[in-house]
Amino acid sequence: MEELEQRLAITEEKKQELFRNNLGLVLDRDFFHVAFNTDAYLHDFYTQLEEPAMRMVHTYMPTIVAKLPKGGRMCDFGAGPTIHLGVCFRHSVDEIFFADYLPQNRNELVRWINKESNFDWSTVLRTIACHEGAMNSWLTMEEETRSKVRGVLHCDCLKDSSIEYPTDVAEGFDVRFILNTSKS
Ligand SMILES: C[S@@+](CC[C@H](N)C(=O)[O-])C[C@H]1O[C@@H](n2cnc3c(N)ncnc32)[C@H](O)[C@@H]1O
Repeated sequence: MEELEQRLAITEEKKQELFRNNLGLVLDRDFFHVAFNTDAYLHDFYTQLEEPAMRMVHTYMPTIVAKLPKGGRMCDFGAGPTIHLGVCFRHSVDEIFFADYLPQNRNELVRWINKESNFDWSTVLRTIACHEGAMNSWLTMEEETRSKVRGVLHCDCLKDSSIEYPTDVAEGFDVRFILNTSKS
C-alpha cells in the first residue's frame, strides 16, 4: 500500500478523496486510518448540528451529567477529534481524558489543548450552554475544560487492554463514555 502510494506520488488529500468518492471502498480496518478525514468529520457533524443524533446529545447530555455523582476521572473513549463530551463533564469530574484509535484525531485534540486548532466549536458550545441554562457560559467552556484535561490516549476496543496508559497516568476511570463509536 505504502509503496503504491509512493509510486503514484499521491497526496494525503487526494488519497482520501479517492477512497471516499472514486473507489467506493468500505472504510474497514485496513483503510480507516488513512481515509478518515478529521477536518471533514468536524465540519460535517459539528458546524451546523443538523444531525438529529448530535442535536439529541447536546440537548440531553447536560441533564444526564447533572444527575451523575461528582468527582473522579472521566474518559471519552473513541472521542474522535471532539471535545463536546469533555465540555459537558467539565464541572462534574476532576480529570478528563480523551482516547481515540486514530492518530489524526488524537493530533487534533492535542492541537485543541494547545490552542492551535482552527475548528470553531461555538455552535456546539452555545447549544450546550443553552441546555445548561446559562447562555453566556459558552465563552469560558473551552478554558474550563482544558483545565481538567489530563491526557489524550490511544485506544483500541479490539484489544484486551483497550487503552494505552502512559507511565505517569494511573489506570482506570470512574466514568467511561462511548458515543457514536464503532470498531474499525
Ligand atoms: C464516528 S467517530 C465518533 C467520534 C466522537 N465520539 C463523536 O461523538 O463525534 C468514531 C470513532 O471511533 C474510533 N474508532 C474506530 N475504531 C476504533 C477501535 N477499534 N477502538 C476504539 N475506537 C475506534 C474512530 O477513531 C473514530 O474517532
